[in-house]
Amino acid sequence: GIIQRIQKLEKEHALAIEDYEYLIENRTPETDDWIRHKAVQITRSIYGRDIYVRGLIEFTNICRNNCYYCGIRKDNPHVRRYRLSQEEILSSCKTGHALGFRTFVLQGGEDAYFTDDRLCAIVSEIHERYPDCAITLSVGERSAESYRRLYEAGAERYLLRHETADADHYRLLHPSTMSFAHRMDCIRTLRDIGYAVGIGMMIGAPYQTARHLAEDLKFIETFQPEMCGIGPFIPHGQTPLKDFPAGSVDLTCYLLALIRLICPDVLLPATTALGTMDPKGREKGVLSGANVVMPNLSPTEVRKDYQLYDNKICTGEESAQCRGCLERRMLSIGYQVVTDRGDKKNI
Ligand code: SAM
Ligand code: FES
Repeated sequence: GIIQRIQKLEKEHALAIEDYEYLIENRTPETDDWIRHKAVQITRSIYGRDIYVRGLIEFTNICRNNCYYCGIRKDNPHVRRYRLSQEEILSSCKTGHALGFRTFVLQGGEDAYFTDDRLCAIVSEIHERYPDCAITLSVGERSAESYRRLYEAGAERYLLRHETADADHYRLLHPSTMSFAHRMDCIRTLRDIGYAVGIGMMIGAPYQTARHLAEDLKFIETFQPEMCGIGPFIPHGQTPLKDFPAGSVDLTCYLLALIRLICPDVLLPATTALGTMDPKGREKGVLSGANVVMPNLSPTEVRKDYQLYDNKICTGEESAQCRGCLERRMLSIGYQVVTDRGDKKNI
């Protein structure tokens, strides 16, 4: 049953794919609570009640890709496209640093304007001005050479969700111009270069089965990422997958807990998508084993234009409001947001 499998997972941090599938298919409210409680205890034993914050700067919504689920896909003509200048990005970092952020996440579409020269210049400048901060990039698939140059410029972490560990499922979510093999190659290259790597997937993505999620967990178990970003799929009305239902908050929280059991010291964000699906979603995420939150640090003027999915929260707020909001939310459940780079602790 569930209990035996969880006990095995707690001890060995590994299970067969069939066992992961069993855990996903045979949940009950009681076992959910029990597993989330275990995950929270593990998190507390490693990270205490500290929650790490990352200042998320969505610096371009221009993208050459056409992922079927994503609101800023190239073929969505309704998006007002923008890219922040180096000055605007640095000014966001300045605001963020004053607010206590010690990690900046530069996220964007795959925008050809940001050549290696341009992006490296931005990364080095942030690195020079804020030597006490970690720089995380999340700009999709690039060449090994590009990843290497960005690493040398001072980026230490990279978020590149694998999206799904199943090649057939991958093809249902992406056009044939994108390849599962290439995405996996990129993830391995990032690891080889020395980045702290974040992978992850959407929960409840169109066509996703319990077997697919079990494969995702197996991939997480074998790859041992430093970070793992998971959040519910949320349909965007101007995408080909607009008619699929959103993923569930409960299942997302359950998977957060399982991931915590698989990788006890992994950095696990309670995502904005989780907060979008449920006003208490991020709190629920932390109470399932998440230990990171990523408040929006983008200039308020552009936030509405970085709409990956419908009804995204925080698009009207100022950076300081998001920071304060999350601090209060975390305090309300007995956790504190800390001013810290928030590196992974190795156990
Ligand atoms: N372009 C970079 C990349 O592909 O890795 C980074 C930006 S991309 C918009 C960041 C993540 O947003 C994706 O990895 C995907 O999992 C998530 N995302 C996109 N559309 C979504 C949706 N409709 N619901 C939930 N998450 C979504
Ligand atoms: Fe942005 Fe709450 S985190 S308003």
